[in-house]
Amino acid sequence: MATFTIMNNMSGQKSEFEILESTLGAPVVDISGLRSRVGAYTYDNGLGETATCQSSITFIDGAKGELLYRGYPIEELANKKNYIEVCYLILHGELPDSKEYNRFERDIRVKSYPHEGIKYLFRAFPDNGHPMAILSSAVSALSAFHHQHLNVKDDEEFMEMARRIIAKMPTLAAFTYRHFMGYPLIYPDMERYFTENFLYMLRAFPTGKTEISDVEVRALDKIFMLHADHEQNASTTTVRAVGSTGAHPYAAVVAGINALWGRAHGGANESVIAQLEMIGSVDKVDEFIRRAKNPEDSFRLMGFGHRVYKNFDPRAKVLKKLRDELRDTIGINSRLIEIADRIEQIALNDEYFVKRNLYPNIDFYSGTILEALGIRKKMFTPIFVIGRTVGWIAHLIEQKKDSKQKIYRPRQRYIGKTRRSVP
Ligand code: CMC
Repeated sequence: MATFTIMNNMSGQKSEFEILESTLGAPVVDISGLRSRVGAYTYDNGLGETATCQSSITFIDGAKGELLYRGYPIEELANKKNYIEVCYLILHGELPDSKEYNRFERDIRVKSYPHEGIKYLFRAFPDNGHPMAILSSAVSALSAFHHQHLNVKDDEEFMEMARRIIAKMPTLAAFTYRHFMGYPLIYPDMERYFTENFLYMLRAFPTGKTEISDVEVRALDKIFMLHADHEQNASTTTVRAVGSTGAHPYAAVVAGINALWGRAHGGANESVIAQLEMIGSVDKVDEFIRRAKNPEDSFRLMGFGHRVYKNFDPRAKVLKKLRDELRDTIGINSRLIEIADRIEQIALNDEYFVKRNLYPNIDFYSGTILEALGIRKKMFTPIFVIGRTVGWIAHLIEQKKDSKQKIYRPRQRYIGKTRRSVP
């Protein structure tokens, strides 16, 4: 047994901890019982050095820029599979055969209708309310409609719930968008594939023909797929933390949605486009690069940097290629791309960014494609939510099956006042 020895120089206490091998990537030191054996906790600001759970869903090698879903490289999945096949893979651990796929895909279509009562919720929100606020409230409300029916101990029932929330998320996101735009709410069309149906719900009107091209469907499908899971990021860790309390699974997903909203996480896709628009022209790029490098200025280049990737984000590579392929077919905004390309060119060669391993991430490219699909930037993060829902649910399922799972209850280093009497 490989061990790791920790010595407390103050108390003289010394203890050995088991090193657990991983199938890929770094092994982990199992520090169970650390405080009672050595008399101290670990302090890991931002949890960057801590494995909070065991998982077999996604593997990331940040130095190599590698991302695997259930062992399959993201680039290969993006070339050969669709989003619904990837959802099945993430939930079940294996790709579906044709019978399994047909059953799963059909079930997702059928479950795309939310309870009729959910529709009335949208009326309560102001038109200009942020779509993430509305979407998170709608998913929270959904848990009220599906509460008494859920026996979380039953695997098949839990999987049924997983299919239900994956299927309903695009409908709730489309309701959110339509409310935001002042359009009448429209129902899903069960004759359409998941991603086509979502575009249909964004674009359709009670009269007239809805134009949706295969190229657009494939582009958005890839975006969903690239967002499907990303191991223990801030939102997934939040989902697991809430899941660990035994709360309703939708409540855990809502917590994930709210964590994703922040601009350091999923909210970055909206901020990237806002920032490119603010920069406005290629000749202004140098000035903003200077600001990004200035430690006195809080300005950051949105879509750059990642806690885990210290190399190109492999999802960004797939999206950059997709964006360039789509340039002529779906009319990508060439002014914004020129600015983005200039930022990328400077940053990849500038000592500040090179030294800190700051590369473009997925959000640097997704916005320009979503914009070309006619989607408003305030909807970019809800689109991330649609793609990521399967990942969150897969983590809840994995957590539920882990007999060693415990309620999340970390400790702190207390730096407040010592005990004193009230005067
Ligand atoms: N622009 C300028 N400087 C940056 C940037 C940036 N985008 N990102 C990091 N830095 C600098 C930072 O100032 C620090 O410099 P110094 O060492 O001199 O203090 C150094 O790089 C390390 O930064 P950090 O904040 O300690 O790194 P982190 O791992 O805690 O943060 C991050 C990762 C993604 C929050 C951060 O890079 C960032 O804010 N990026 C912009 C927002 C963004 O694009 N987020 C999307 C992430 S990918 C999608 C997702 O998974 O959600």
